[in-house]
Parts: sequence; C-alpha cells; structure tokens
Amino acid sequence: MRIERARGTRDFLPKEMRKRRILEVRMRELAERWGYEEIGTPTFELAELFTLKSGEAILKEMYEFEDKGGRHLALRPELTAPVIRMYVNELKMASKPIKVYYFGNCFRYEEPQKARYREFWQFGVELIGSDRPEAQAEVIALAFSILKSLGIKAELHVGHVGLIREKLRDAKVEEEKINKVMRLIDKGEREEVIAFMNEIGVKREVIDDLLRLIDLKGEEALKEAHDHTIIVPESDALKELEMLLEMLNYYGVAYTLNLGIARGLDYYTGMVFEIYEAGGVLGAENQICGGGSYRLAALFGGDEVPSTGFAFGFDRLAELFRLETRDLKRKEVVVVPVRERDTNDRGVVKEAIKIASKLREFFTTQIDVMNRSLSAQLSYANAIHASFAVLVGKNELKEEKVTLRYLNTGEQEKLGVEECVERIKAYFDVK
Ligand code: HAM
Repeated sequence: MRIERARGTRDFLPKEMRKRRILEVRMRELAERWGYEEIGTPTFELAELFTLKSGEAILKEMYEFEDKGGRHLALRPELTAPVIRMYVNELKMASKPIKVYYFGNCFRYEEPQKARYREFWQFGVELIGSDRPEAQAEVIALAFSILKSLGIKAELHVGHVGLIREKLRDAKVEEEKINKVMRLIDKGEREEVIAFMNEIGVKREVIDDLLRLIDLKGEEALKEAHDHTIIVPESDALKELEMLLEMLNYYGVAYTLNLGIARGLDYYTGMVFEIYEAGGVLGAENQICGGGSYRLAALFGGDEVPSTGFAFGFDRLAELFRLETRDLKRKEVVVVPVRERDTNDRGVVKEAIKIASKLREFFTTQIDVMNRSLSAQLSYANAIHASFAVLVGKNELKEEKVTLRYLNTGEQEKLGVEECVERIKAYFDVK
C-alpha cells in the first residue's frame, strides 16, 4: 500500500530545503540587525487562545482536537496570539519595546491551491509596547527592507481599520457586528457588506459613506476622505495615519494608500498593511505579507499593551526568491579510500577517515560507506556534483601524500595533506 501525503502538505527535497534555509538565514540576519530577537512558541495551544479574538474566518479553518486528557487544543493558525500569550506569561516585566521575531509552521484547513497550503510557514515580527506611527513605520520599513534584500518586487498597501471602525461606532454599531463588517470587507464581498448593514439597521448615508471610504486608494485618498467628510470629524485614526505616511517617506518606503484594507483577523485596532507580489508569479494568492497594530494582551490576562507586527508567508517568498549562482555552488569534497580489490584495507580506511575529519574543519566532506571500488566512488562523487575527490591509497600513504582530483577536469596531482587543504581552500575561497 502506498501512503500519500496529507492534503495541503508538502515534502521538501534537499535542493528546495537548501534554498529555504538560505532564505530563512537572510531574513533572520535582517530582523536581528534591526534589534529583533528570535522566540519560539508551541506548535499547538489551548484552542481558546485563538477563539477569543482571531475571528470567525480563522476559526472555520482551525485544526482542533481533544487530547487524551480531554483538553481542547488547536494547531496554531498563526503566531501573533501565541507571542502575546507568551509575553503575558513570561515577559511582562521586560523593558519596552520588546522586539521579537519568529519562524514557524502554521496550519489552516483551507482549500489547497497554488501558494495556499494547509501547513505553511510564517516569518514574522512583533514589536510589543507601541502602536505609535514610529513603531508602525519601523515595522513596515523592516518588511520592506527584507523584500529589497531578497530582490523581490512587491507592492505595499497601507490602510487604517480605525477609520472604518470609528465610522461604525459613531453610527452606534456594536463591536461584534463591526467585526463581521470588517471580515466581509476583507473578503471583498461588497453585496454582503451592504446586505448585512441593511439587516442591522445602519442608515443609508452611513452605508454610502463607508462604501466610498473603502474604495479610496492612492495619492488622493486622504484628501478625498476629508473633502467628502466621509470619515468622522476630528478622526484620531486619520491623524495617526497621516503621521505614519510622513514617517514612511523618511524611510524612503513607497506605498499605496488603501483605505479598504480590513484584514481577516479581528484583533487589529489601527494601521493595517498588506504586501502583494508584483510580478504575477503567485497568481491569485499574491499576498506575501500582512500586518498591523493590535491589542491582545488584556484579553489574555495582562495589562493592555499596544503592539505592531507582521508575518510573511514564507512559502510564497520561497517561490519568488532566486538563489545566486554562488549559493548554488556545492563546496563538497569526497574522500576516496583506494583499497586492494575485495579487501577492507584497514590502514587505508583509517588514514582516509583522519583526512576526512581534517577536511570537515573547512568543507562538506563525504567518505565511502559502502566499501565500493575506486571507479564506483568516483562516479558517486560526480553524481553529487562534488568539486574534488581526495584519493587515499597505499602508494600515497608511503609518500605521506594524497591525490587531489579536480572532478570537473579530471586533472589530478599528488600533495601533502596540508597542501591539499590549502589548494581546496583557495579554490572555494575559504579563509
Ligand atoms: P495573515 O495575513 O493571516 O496574518 O498571514 C500572513 C501571511 O501568511 C499572508 O500574507 C500569506 O502570505 C501567508 N499565508 C496565510 N495563509 C496561508 C496559506 N494557507 N498558505 C500559504 N501562505 C499563507 C497573520 O497571520 C498575522 N498573524 C500577521 C500579523 C503579525 N499581524 C500582526 N502581527
């Protein structure tokens, strides 16, 4: 019986895994250069952590189960709620802002398609302690600089859920209903937005204003929002947004203002942003990053603490990321014990192992583990695209030398071990 992978999951072969690892390391380095430190949280949590505030959409997609002790658990669909839970449990007293990043797998029971999986990875940051425009701008600029360093062309859309929420609060709509409107806006279900607002008795003028507000995009959006007075007077959200946009200019970050961004998660309270791939590679699932300002700590038993963060869809970035040729070059050496036919020549094997250990101080080095002939060992070395074979045989040992073979040309020379190491180092440009 052949057992298939579970739907929406993937295997990663060595080549793909190598690329993902290089990508991950690059992202880590950047986040750390901005002062963010890595944290880790469990893969599963009490389901309640996500049911409290993440919103209906996430709940429908959650992998939930009961463990043998009867606890109601869930595989994490995202990492913001776990990070804030960890903050409340472990980090409340730490100096603010607390800047953390994470890289981990998430699970959502979605309909799998290109770039949409049931198990996927997120690389994200959370800045705990501020949702001021300075924090918002920093977080967006960090996301932007990560994409720039990866050479990925993308479009940043910035909005503010406060504008829509203020408008609905002003019209005396209850919070739960506001959350539902936000979710419908996020899904782009315009007719349903209208139908739902009619159903809950929102006035015609308010509905019209709101529809105009969520359509506003680009340079003129703020001006139009003022002119039409479709936002509430003296809007705090608007002031915050204007300051954020000014700060994004300081960072040299190009953005499109998009007042229709609502985000699918319920916890956002302020600025929200989404980044879309610009090259058309990903198709419909082209959102590569999402984030914003939110408040979750009080919900999990802490003091109210404003926070701002984002998460990249790592798998989507991996799809877009192109390795440079220098990343592809395998720096690999194969040590070849040359034995007398059909013997397990202990002296040669012992020396070959010693030499392999020496080489491993600098390079990836493999040694035969199948007692194969010289020609079989060399064809394996060629098959794995190793650059060098180091031949260790009786004759070489008598002279305290090895034979270094350049696999791409077939040339070879006899050298002392130290000299051989230096030759390979020079070739691989290893100091
Ligand atoms: P999100 O927009 O739900 O936000 O997810 C972030 C990113 O994860 C998306 O932009 C997308 O690239 C990727 N993603 C989501 N679902 C899938 C999937 N099924 N397959 C592949 N990639 C996917 C959050 O999760 C928030 N926690 C972000 C955040 C952090 N907000 C504040 N801090």
